[in-house]
Amino acid sequence: EKGGYDHFMIKEIFEQPRSIADSMRGRLRAEDAHLQLGGLEAYLDKLAETERIVIVACGTSWHAGLVAEYLFEELARINVEVEYASEFRYRNPVIGENDIVIAISQSGETADTLAAIELAKSKGAIIFGVCNVVGSSIARATHAGAYTHAGPEIGVASTKAFTAQVTVLTLMAIATARRKGAIQEETYGHLLTELECIPSKVTQVFENATRIKEIAFIFTYARNFIYLGRGLNFPVALEGALKLKEISYIHAEGYPAAEMKHGPIALIDEDMPVVFLATKDSSYEKIVSNIQEVKARKGRVIAIITEGDTLIPPMVDFVIEVPATHEILTPLLSVIPLQLLSYYVAVMRGRNVDQPRNLAKSVTVE
Ligand code: M6R
Repeated sequence: EKGGYDHFMIKEIFEQPRSIADSMRGRLRAEDAHLQLGGLEAYLDKLAETERIVIVACGTSWHAGLVAEYLFEELARINVEVEYASEFRYRNPVIGENDIVIAISQSGETADTLAAIELAKSKGAIIFGVCNVVGSSIARATHAGAYTHAGPEIGVASTKAFTAQVTVLTLMAIATARRKGAIQEETYGHLLTELECIPSKVTQVFENATRIKEIAFIFTYARNFIYLGRGLNFPVALEGALKLKEISYIHAEGYPAAEMKHGPIALIDEDMPVVFLATKDSSYEKIVSNIQEVKARKGRVIAIITEGDTLIPPMVDFVIEVPATHEILTPLLSVIPLQLLSYYVAVMRGRNVDQPRNLAKSVTVE
């Protein structure tokens, strides 16, 4: 059932070209500029009209929510708040009939997310679900939604569910922006075409697996890791750190790169591996300066860069390339090397990758 792989996690990582394609299938066709999410059609006007979207989720799904915040703000110009479901449910949140809540959950059974939905619903908000498990409690509790088609995810560390969530949320943000008239035709067309290329570009990232394994070997016994990114790559940094923590039990922190100098930079010395998300996007130059700041303090830098970048490689210790894409779609590619890095480190440490200690696949108790 692991299809010849040692663990479900690695099987699921390698399934991503398929699971991302499945999450777009029947919804997107670039050649005739078609984009339609059946479950959302009836609510698309409401989404386009709303002034605020509140996203509730936990863990990796919360990271997908942070990506969606950028997408909806950037493309559809809608104000988005991303909440930990566990915090949201125990506050007295300002939420009402004019708000739209998007709940994101792989399992559809996370207790805190379900409770957050019930609370928002009781205040009159419209609830959309982005779930992977058909007929799950969360899917049933929502007014409408769009399923991710990642297929069953067995590894406790979420991988293909995350990229499927980001894919579906991207489709939702683009569809909303289009309905709102907030996106130019040219950008719209370009995004659809680029989206269709993502599965094959993920396959290209896999060509770096051996290289990533070598890097994992060098850092197998590191005690700490820092992950830094800006913009859309900030949530990816958080996700990379969470993956490493969960399955290798190495302490790892993700930060927005610019926050470094407000504290974490004190941690940098020659023993500190720092993973930079340094793809060629609008924060590229800023990230390059952040890399210099870390190198000046002798940190060991592993940089995820865009293919063909010649500036960063001589500045850092290791690079892993990902293909170029539209900036908005970067997380779908930049997260892949981080999933692989955490997997190989955990395997080299002899961890139980698919069932890490203290963790359950779905957290149905609070
Ligand atoms: O099933 P859900 O997406 O609601 O689960 C949320 C979190 O429990 C989950 O993402 C968790 O953080 C994973 N172990 C991350 O790899």
